[in-house]
Amino acid sequence: MIFRQVAVGTFQNFAYIIGDEKTMTAAIIDPAWEVDKLLKICTDLGLKVSYVINTHSHHDHVQGNDSVARQTSAKVVMHEKSLAKKDIAVKDGDAIDVGSLKAKMIHTPGHCPDHICILIDGKLLTGDLLFVGECGRTDLAGGNPGDMYDSLFQKILPLQDSLEVYPGHDYGKNPSSTIGYERENNYTLKPRSREEFIKFMAEP
Ligand SMILES: [Fe+2]
Repeated sequence: MIFRQVAVGTFQNFAYIIGDEKTMTAAIIDPAWEVDKLLKICTDLGLKVSYVINTHSHHDHVQGNDSVARQTSAKVVMHEKSLAKKDIAVKDGDAIDVGSLKAKMIHTPGHCPDHICILIDGKLLTGDLLFVGECGRTDLAGGNPGDMYDSLFQKILPLQDSLEVYPGHDYGKNPSSTIGYERENNYTLKPRSREEFIKFMAEP
């Protein structure tokens, strides 16, 4: 797999480029800023962009979608709960074939209702659900700390320790991590009951 983590914009966002070496098909994840830079990387690598996949519909993750779609043949993929413009609506457990690669969607609400994590070839793109050393906020429109607990503790933490974590923002001391490292070191993932977690998220 060809994989690039690209720092973009002024809000410490990460966009990602995923490419299949067999077919040179690619997906861009969360192209919100510096679309020209992202497309140039794809061109330089010889990749044809077939999909845009958004972890969620906040503007700092989607506002470059139209520009990518205009300049490539990319179809826009989002969770079915997203109200934003999309070509393909996915739900939990669905997969998108990026050439010979399978991008599996895990519905992870909490930061917002339409949030997904994308699992591909030993890497988990966690958007604004999980950052290195931190979790996403739940106090924006559609945020829900109980859903956040279920997404983190029931869907993400049970995944294997070696799975690499690639967040939607560069908020940590490293740009990426692993599930095992986050389980050990992320203060938001300390063992808590659902009730305790909801209280914890309400603290300043
Ligand atoms: Fe967000």
